[in-house]
Amino acid sequence: MMTLPIEKQGFTEALQAAAREVEEVLDAVLPQPTGLQGRVQDAMRYAVFAGGKRLRPFLVLQTAALFGVPKGRALRVAAAVEVLHTYSLVHDDLPAMDDDDLRRGRPTTHKQFDEATAILAGDALLTLAFEILADPQTHPSGAVRAALVTDLARHSGSNGMIGGQMIDIEAPNHDFSLEQVADLQRRKTGALFEFSSQAGARLAEAPDADWERLGDYARDLGLAFQIADDLIDVLGTAEAAGKAVGKDQAMGKATFVSLYGVERATAEAERLAERASQTVADYGPAAHLLGGLPLFLIGREG
Ligand code: IPE
Ligand code: IPE
Ligand code: MG
Ligand code: MG
Ligand code: MG
Repeated sequence: MMTLPIEKQGFTEALQAAAREVEEVLDAVLPQPTGLQGRVQDAMRYAVFAGGKRLRPFLVLQTAALFGVPKGRALRVAAAVEVLHTYSLVHDDLPAMDDDDLRRGRPTTHKQFDEATAILAGDALLTLAFEILADPQTHPSGAVRAALVTDLARHSGSNGMIGGQMIDIEAPNHDFSLEQVADLQRRKTGALFEFSSQAGARLAEAPDADWERLGDYARDLGLAFQIADDLIDVLGTAEAAGKAVGKDQAMGKATFVSLYGVERATAEAERLAERASQTVADYGPAAHLLGGLPLFLIGREG
């Protein structure tokens, strides 16, 4: 067995522990396949229980812990963002989008089922996210629940993640500047990281300064994370990544790597990761994992 350096091992274990906890909640909130609609519910479960890293849940749990938010509430928000993220992957892989056959080390949902089922499963995961947030079990205050719903809608909507996906599709027809690529990536990937990192502050009704600080952290982390994803596409293997590699260039995608080359893109990811860590340093030991996460994530292979 490969031995990881202690620090790396610590993160891997912390992520796995968070994944186990959120997966219990995911199992409880995902509908059990029943009746003639069972096929779409099977596809929802297939897409969700495929061993993703559960990073967005991890961010929710870690930021919620900073403010002493009851774990059960944080886990529900974590489950909500994970089902929404999973929907975005199911649709991202469709033939009309990135046309991928492999995701999380398994056939993509449209390959395993069919395109219509994958579209419906994505739609149902998206709507389920809001059902989870709106449920009183998520927070006793209706105002906090409504704020979470609004936050997630804004971050996943046409000026957030979906906006980023639209720009990503448009990119091959344009000559994007670095600023435009950064904007694309902030929306496509950064927006859900931002929601996840600020969710703890929202659940705790924390002061604006915490909200701002966690937003700054998430924007740098999200961009560093997406640059690392683009580097994996160029340098990685499908086996480690659990998805096809070498596709961005083939599809003419605009990425930091296509603009900067590998070396400068790597340096930029490191700079952003360092800055993200600094941003949460004021929280002290409580933010130890949040502080180390950016550097850990840019060193990943999948
Ligand atoms: C993949 O996200 C899509 C991007 C935003 C790059 P993740 O790398 O978090 O995918 P999973 O959830 O671990 O499969
Ligand atoms: C997808 O970005 C981001 C979202 C699903 C919102 P990519 O297309 O780069 O993600 P991968 O590489 O397929 O995971
Ligand atoms: Mg894509
Ligand atoms: Mg893709
Ligand atoms: Mg990618």
